[in-house]
Amino acid sequence: MSTEIRRAIYPGSFDPITNGHLDIIERGCKLFDEVVVAVLNNPDKNSLFSVDERLQMLREVLPKAEGCRIRVDSFQGLLVEYAAAQNARAIVRGIRAISDYEYELQMALMNRRLSPGLETIFLMSGETYSYISSRLVKQVFTLGGRIEGLVPPLVEERMREKLNK
Ligand code: PNS
Repeated sequence: MSTEIRRAIYPGSFDPITNGHLDIIERGCKLFDEVVVAVLNNPDKNSLFSVDERLQMLREVLPKAEGCRIRVDSFQGLLVEYAAAQNARAIVRGIRAISDYEYELQMALMNRRLSPGLETIFLMSGETYSYISSRLVKQVFTLGGRIEGLVPPLVEERMREKLNK
């Protein structure tokens, strides 16, 4: 029997992490020995938080899952190359609604073409989180709406500081 660690990469922008992301991480943890939450370092993208700020927030809010290790990292360039360097056997992505599927399918098939041995696993987020996205959370908060319950309290605090709210 193989003793190799079953490692998955959960890649994303996480700008910022939401309760929906945390839900997917917990679900991924039930399937893998280790989940690497990997923040894309994309200088072209206009982000609210720097990569370092996002990594810091992730470290502070990630659950202590029993039996599964959760690691935080950042990456640049092709996801499949990063996954190979990490010796991961799968990519985890969350699907909230059918509208996510088209974009996710496109990425999964492109990644499969680039790296046929690497599987993408789609996990369905819990219904409570099915409408939450980092983009909407930022928009609502910027316009003065309440985001309690959508992101961890620490993230709300960091958003308040960042946006002077
Ligand atoms: O949270 P996001 O912004 O939807 O995450 C998108 C992400 C980071 C998974 C995707 O942009 C990505 O994998 N970028 C790395 C570049 C790459 O490998 N592109 C080719 C695969 S489509």
